[in-house]
Amino acid sequence: MRRLIGSSLSKNRENGKPNNSRPDMSSKFPSTITNVRAAQRLDSRGKPTVQVWVTTNKGTFTASAPSGASRGPYEAHEILDADPNMYGGNGVEKAVYHAQHVIGPGLVDKCFDVSRDLAKIDDFMIKLDGTKDKGNLGTNAILPLSMACARAAAAARDVPLYEFLRQEAHAPEGYVLPVPFFNLLNGGVHSGNQMAFQEFMIAPVGAESMAQAIQIGSEVYQELKSMIKKKYGAAATAVGEEGGFSPPISDPEEALDLLTEAVKSSGHQGKIKFGIDPASSQFFECGCYDIGYKRGNEEKLSSTQLTDLYNKLLQKYPIILLEDPFAEDDWASWRNFNRDCKIELVGDDLLATNISRLAMAREHAACNSILLKVNQIGTVSEALSVAQSAYSFGWKVFVSHRSGETNDDFISDLAVAIGCGHLKAGSPCRGERVAKYNRLMDIEDQLKCTHANFKYAGNMWE
Ligand code: PGA
Ligand code: ZN
Repeated sequence: MRRLIGSSLSKNRENGKPNNSRPDMSSKFPSTITNVRAAQRLDSRGKPTVQVWVTTNKGTFTASAPSGASRGPYEAHEILDADPNMYGGNGVEKAVYHAQHVIGPGLVDKCFDVSRDLAKIDDFMIKLDGTKDKGNLGTNAILPLSMACARAAAAARDVPLYEFLRQEAHAPEGYVLPVPFFNLLNGGVHSGNQMAFQEFMIAPVGAESMAQAIQIGSEVYQELKSMIKKKYGAAATAVGEEGGFSPPISDPEEALDLLTEAVKSSGHQGKIKFGIDPASSQFFECGCYDIGYKRGNEEKLSSTQLTDLYNKLLQKYPIILLEDPFAEDDWASWRNFNRDCKIELVGDDLLATNISRLAMAREHAACNSILLKVNQIGTVSEALSVAQSAYSFGWKVFVSHRSGETNDDFISDLAVAIGCGHLKAGSPCRGERVAKYNRLMDIEDQLKCTHANFKYAGNMWE
């Protein structure tokens, strides 16, 4: 196996985040789990989430669960305490108990060797839960354990997390650094403005490196901030849940015009394309799409009218990606749109990172790309096999954060590992968002230092 950066100890520390390092043992000895701990911690919305710590002979490895706001019905189940006296019912002590006292002892007793047993560990947790949607133990208990075990596995194999995940996914050698899709304007259920569409993203496809892509994203973001301040006043520069601005706009063209102007005045014209996630299930009701739902005055569009709106936007702006343009069960609209679709058409709520939804979407010829959110399915192994299936259909894979995040940067390694070429982690602002982008720059630095075979995915869309 290719050797990567630095001494094994410093590499493992940085990658696996051990906070209780033990002496390095020879990797020929199995790396078994000796302790599992879990606790309730806060996420970026100030709501409780589950953090876990998994200890092996290589150290202690931590991970925490993200949580969505525009959740679809086909996602794995998050267990909340529903005690109105604690965090308004959003406490996660039950899931913490499941992680530490139900799953944890099993992981220790089974003597799994984390260096090679991640699939078995995940399978053990799936079976212990016994439901299709992780409804007994909760995706918020299972997923962080799976992620922490992946980190422990990387340390046991003495490789960075992205390399471990690449091996686990049987992905080809050589790394592709993903184009970051920065969500600069927040609407939908992620912000308090009147914009129905949830996300307006910029993608620096014309950058030459990860570092340059992030520099471009940050410069456009700062330019946009000044423009919004001038146009709508300083109060309008407050940010939404994914770190993008939510000025008082409601028309998608207003949003795209703002982005166009910010790109131009920051001097990055020609290097940036756009992506939109309307998250349209949120405003789908009785067969219509009410794009006025946040304004308090209905503006109901039929699926044909909404399609016309999308086509108009596609003609006018350099849009390369559209996510959830239609509701998760509006198969006919998806199929019609996908028939002549020239851009990336991503299923998020449509697919819920779920293998059976993927199969249905393929049958319906509904889309050509999947949004990969690990907590929608609940284990790392299942997420990797969903990605593999999507690739086998000839689809793209778009790795994603959730609107409720922590500083956990697992998804950055995941995106590099599976070579999917693009990732969305919000705007280049707010600690839980920049954690992912900073990790990508760390990975680029490491790959450069080791003269590894890698490239920035930028021209994938050319
Ligand atoms: P969520 O939003 O995390 O609130 O579901 C993200 C998305 O829809 O892509
Ligand atoms: Zn989405």
